[in-house]
Amino acid sequence: MSVPFCPGYNQEPFKSLAENYPAAELYPPKDFRIEWGPLFHRGRLDGTARLLAIGQDPAQHEAVARRILVGTAGKRAQGFVKRLGLTRSYVMINTYLYSVYGQTGGNAHIGDAGITAYRNQWIKAILDENPVEAVVGFGGLADKAWKAWLASPAAAGRPAMPYVHLMHPTWPESSSQSAAQHGAAIKKLLTNWNGGLNQLAPAIHHPDVQVPLALYGKKFTDADLPDIPPEDMPAGLPEWMRRDEGWADRKGRTAKEKRRTIVIVAPASEIPA
Ligand code: URA
Repeated sequence: MSVPFCPGYNQEPFKSLAENYPAAELYPPKDFRIEWGPLFHRGRLDGTARLLAIGQDPAQHEAVARRILVGTAGKRAQGFVKRLGLTRSYVMINTYLYSVYGQTGGNAHIGDAGITAYRNQWIKAILDENPVEAVVGFGGLADKAWKAWLASPAAAGRPAMPYVHLMHPTWPESSSQSAAQHGAAIKKLLTNWNGGLNQLAPAIHHPDVQVPLALYGKKFTDADLPDIPPEDMPAGLPEWMRRDEGWADRKGRTAKEKRRTIVIVAPASEIPA
């Protein structure tokens, strides 16, 4: 059995970016879970990425897998790029390197010059090294991150890049209090994403597979939530971490204990009877 894996950050300019990441001096530990380390990216850094997707911040699954957008949000994002015919030629980064702690940290730090400057180094490196044809920002903070890049000196003089700002993949969960609200929110998200697909599909000239554009229905189907490709993950990551959702949870009797604890549960089906 041969299982491909993500080689990580062994090539410049990504090597230096991964070696010189910001920590508490830019990301205040009261607002970011810096104790779980920085999470940089997922996808291609090798000159083959055609789409750049920007998310918000990593959560517990990402802290374990050491790649971003691998939990519920990640599987939804994977289904989105699949509809554009992209099965591997994409790269994803987050607005923030660390998981936001609390309700206010995300908005409070979106204008921070140091955080923005480091993120812009990543965007520059990705655009310099890959033939990116379009960009998608998932959520309001990602949109601000992309606009901060466009306003930076390093973006000046580059050809305009097709860009869409879409709702964040887990906005339905964060905005709903009931099952009915959740269903309506998913529908709203998918309508929004369909608009994004219509805009992005003509901009992706080199998909991995030629697929006629098919829009989402009113809810996610299983086919809309593909496994995360092994090629996106560090070597040796268990297969179920790419396939399943909800295998990691923050647990604790106090806020401090919960912040310190991630519980990982392997599926029962993986264990011999
Ligand atoms: N996980 C990520 O890495 N980014 C998001 O925006 C959400 C979940």
